[in-house]
Amino acid sequence: MSAILEVSDLRKAYAGVHALDGVSFAVEAGSITGLIGPNGSGKSTAIDCISGFQKLDGGKVVLAGQDITGRVAHHIARTGLMRTFQTVRIYERLSLRDNLAIANQQFDAANWLDELLRTRRYRDAVEAAEKRARQLVELIGLQRYWEIETGILSYGQKKLVALAAALMPHPKVVVLDEPVAGVNPSRIREIEAALGELNRAGETFLIVEHNVEFITNLCHRVIVLDQGRKLAEGTAAAIHTDPRVLEAYLGMTPEMAEAEMRGAA
Ligand SMILES: Nc1ncnc2c1ncn2[C@@H]1O[C@H](COP(=O)(O)OP(=O)(O)OP(=O)(O)O)[C@@H](O)[C@H]1O
Ligand SMILES: [Mg+2]
Repeated sequence: MSAILEVSDLRKAYAGVHALDGVSFAVEAGSITGLIGPNGSGKSTAIDCISGFQKLDGGKVVLAGQDITGRVAHHIARTGLMRTFQTVRIYERLSLRDNLAIANQQFDAANWLDELLRTRRYRDAVEAAEKRARQLVELIGLQRYWEIETGILSYGQKKLVALAAALMPHPKVVVLDEPVAGVNPSRIREIEAALGELNRAGETFLIVEHNVEFITNLCHRVIVLDQGRKLAEGTAAAIHTDPRVLEAYLGMTPEMAEAEMRGAA
């Protein structure tokens, strides 16, 4: 596998607070990579800077070999990095189908003249988008809501709609900001399953999330931030037993963690 997203030496300070103090990591194509860390460790700042929603003070962001450092968000999206937000942003009065059609339109290769003239290119683009939308809806398991107003869906299902919308333009990487925060625990499994399915279908994800179990179940690789720096990186299993991670992230010594695990078993 090769890195589809590479960030190096990311730096960002807010009025003297080093939110990012030289963070480097890579996301492999076809992987699910987790970005975790305690509150205030710099996770949101990192993904905001990578996706162009915040300006970096320093460092470099390379997507599929292209330097996208400092580019505006819509340019980065067009280059192939999409993101979702912690609060869901979808069109609640519109059906699932229309939400996905709109998500596609913003990135459509066909232009207004094609549309006006109903050119072959326009018809092909509409057909391809519809096919993509149906595939995604099947992968996230929401087929029965295809023609239904998305406003009636549960919060977790709305998050899945936002995820499918982000995937419509065939991005190279999708960055998810806390995909299960605020989601009913019984629905977390559905999101986990959907992400697993999408990944097996070839999608690449970078996920910021506080839910350690969710991250452990899904991620091939986990990066741990603490106070604006990368504290550790590795498989979920390796991260779990890393004493630095236990102390910084969970506030536990390895002995305490072990006792806790024995208690839970
Ligand atoms: N707009 C801002 N102005 C000033 N300081 C900020 C701003 N955004 C973030 N910070 C500070 O930067 C640091 C990193 O914040 P960030 O939001 O990236 O952390 P986080 O890892 O996403 O935390 P959480 O898990 O709580 O969401 C914190 O010390 C935070 O207080
Ligand atoms: Mg955050």
